[in-house]
Parts: sequence; C-alpha cells; structure tokens
Amino acid sequence: MAEVVIVPDAATAGALVADEIAALIAADPEVVLGLATGSTPLPVYQALPARLAGLDVSRVRGFALDEYVGIDPAHPESYRNVIRREVVEPLGLDPERIQVPNGALETIEHAGDDYEAAIAAAGGVELQILGIGTDGHIGFNEPGSSFASSTRVKTLTAQTRQDNARFFDSIDEVPMHCITQGLGTILRARHLVLLAFGEGKAEAVAGAVEGAVTASLPGSAIQLHPRVSVVVDEAAASRL
Ligand code: GLP
Repeated sequence: MAEVVIVPDAATAGALVADEIAALIAADPEVVLGLATGSTPLPVYQALPARLAGLDVSRVRGFALDEYVGIDPAHPESYRNVIRREVVEPLGLDPERIQVPNGALETIEHAGDDYEAAIAAAGGVELQILGIGTDGHIGFNEPGSSFASSTRVKTLTAQTRQDNARFFDSIDEVPMHCITQGLGTILRARHLVLLAFGEGKAEAVAGAVEGAVTASLPGSAIQLHPRVSVVVDEAAASRL
C-alpha cells in the first residue's frame, strides 16, 4: 500500500518532495532522477533551487518520462524544451546529463530501446516523480497499456489531447503520438512519488491508490511497487 501524504496545498507538496530530492543529491551527487512534465510537478521544481544552494548538482542525472512524437524540437511545448526551461536551467543542471525521449521521426524506430539502454546504463532511476492524467495515465501510458511495457510510441487519447490543448494555440496543434517510458520502465525506479492536486484528479487518484489493479487505469500499476509515496491535496484525496 502506498504511503499517502495529504498536504494543504501544492506548494507544501513541492517543498516536501524537494526536501527529499535535495537529500538524495547531498547523499549521492550522481543520483539519477526521474523527471515529469505537466503542471503538477512544477511546485517541486520551484522549491528546489533554494534547497540546492551549496550542493554540487553538476553530476546529477535525469530522465524525463515522455515526449511528443514529431513535434518541432524548438516548439516551446516540446517536453525537451519544457524540461530545459523548468528544470535544467533554474536548477543549474548539466544539460548533457538530462535526457528526454527522442521524438524525432527519423530515429523513432529505435528511440525506445535507446532510451531504455540509457536508463539502464545510468544504473536506473532513484526517485521518479509522477503526475497522473484525469483518465489515470502516468507518463503517457494511456488506459490499456501493459504493466510490463517499456519505452515506446503510443497514440494519445482524445481526452489527453483535450487536457493538453491548453499548452497549445489550438487542439489541432496537439500531436497525435508520443514516446513514453512504459509502466514496466516506471516500476523499475526505486521510489515512486506521485503528486496530484485538485478535484479533477480525485477519481484517478482513488483508482490508482486503492482501486482494482487494472490496465484500464494505468496509475494502478503503482500498487505493484514496494515503495510509493502519493502526495496530494485535500481535493485530490477526496475520493480516497
Ligand atoms: C501529461 C503528461 C503526464 C502528466 C499528466 C498530467 O499528459 N504526459 O506525465 O502527469 O499529463 O498533467 P498535469 O500535471 O498538467 O495535470
């Protein structure tokens, strides 16, 4: 059973998780972090710079969960750019040590295997930050994803494209496909930290934490992991 921590607000959650990440970096300056995009992890990234003062972050490694396929890498909403803007630059990390799955069409055939190999070569992820989609997806593992899946190309659901349209000028601009770490990849991280805020996530959180373990709700895969922390506000916890 996951450890569930209910906090008053997203900023408190961010501070809590940032404390843990800072402690990991202090203990191992080469720690491998699992990074997530979306709005949910932002409070963690915003809380981190103050906690990293005085720590050597030059050797920290990181792997993002997912990327859009075929998006112009220069597009501000490509996850490569989001991670650079929200994480790498403000935290002063070495961009060479922070990887995002490669969504370029030319190399997409082996991009998943390459990414798995890079994670394995780094020794695996120590702490994986996770958000959750309103349909229960983690990374971009939409309902129906295999619990054993590794990094691969997936089709985005209409719901997720709708949810993410706010980051683009129109829904037509939201890519149709993505490359995402699989549920199997995510489950190999040594500590999963799932964050969720707001009423809109309440059902997905309840399903992930205490519903049936089912591919229909990919977040429920966390129940198969021995070390999971779920950090939520009251609204996101309201159906637990
Ligand atoms: C996005 C991302 C996920 C994220 C989720 C929730 O599509 N691929 O990694 O957890 O949807 O997004 P948000 O945190 O903005 O609610």
